[in-house]
Amino acid sequence: MKIAVVGKGNMGSSLAELAKKAGHQVVVGSRDPKQPVMVAVKGADMVILAVPYGEALTLADNKEFGKTIAGKIVIDITNPLAPDYMSLTVGHSTSAAEEIAKRLTGVKVVKAFNTIFADVLKTRLQGGKGNSTVLVAGNDSEAKNTVMSLVKSFGFDSVDAGTLSAARYTEPMAQLLIQLAYGKGKGTKIGWSLAIAG
Ligand SMILES: NC(=O)c1ccc[n+]([C@@H]2O[C@H](COP(=O)([O-])OP(=O)(O)OC[C@H]3O[C@@H](n4cnc5c(N)ncnc54)[C@H](OP(=O)(O)O)[C@@H]3O)[C@@H](O)[C@H]2O)c1
Repeated sequence: MKIAVVGKGNMGSSLAELAKKAGHQVVVGSRDPKQPVMVAVKGADMVILAVPYGEALTLADNKEFGKTIAGKIVIDITNPLAPDYMSLTVGHSTSAAEEIAKRLTGVKVVKAFNTIFADVLKTRLQGGKGNSTVLVAGNDSEAKNTVMSLVKSFGFDSVDAGTLSAARYTEPMAQLLIQLAYGKGKGTKIGWSLAIAG
């Protein structure tokens, strides 16, 4: 698969490396004039939006961007964090994923990777075997299955969380993870795993 990763920060660079390791063709789009976002997303089958939520909205509002990604799968990994990282700016009746999807016509938006820390991805890249469940939500079943296969190719478990509106649940899960990591001192190598009891 040809994957465009937009954003080359902590998450973007790690996801790009994991995708390359899994045998995918990866193109990075950034604000570096040598890596234009439009060029990166043009030939891609799938786009990973690895930028802050506000930037993702700005991109989604960009008509040229919207036209270029029409028909493609877009993975939204964002969390709509307040500037102090201690609360979410949207929730309950909507989510970052739905706000992004609203702005993109004919795009298959799938929520994933928002509840896994970049440090967990980096640990995996360094050979660590620790697992974490990646919760995947989306309205297009085929697109969701493709993303779940991608997650598995990175070496993580994936769980179908439901339609895109399930991002209303998974985004607060990321917030709780941040609270545990920073507020309760557990560090950023922790993650969620779905356990089946009994
Ligand atoms: N860090 C985590 O553990 C984690 C976990 C789950 C989800 N997330 C989510 O993942 C997203 C990225 O987080 P991060 O930690 O990777 O942030 P980060 O390290 O600050 O990286 C963000 C990247 O986005 C780039 N960017 C911003 N606007 C852009 C635009 N218009 N076009 C292209 N690139 C743009 C920045 O480029 P510049 O270098 O030019 O500023 C930077 O490289 C956020 O939405 C966050 O909520 C993060």
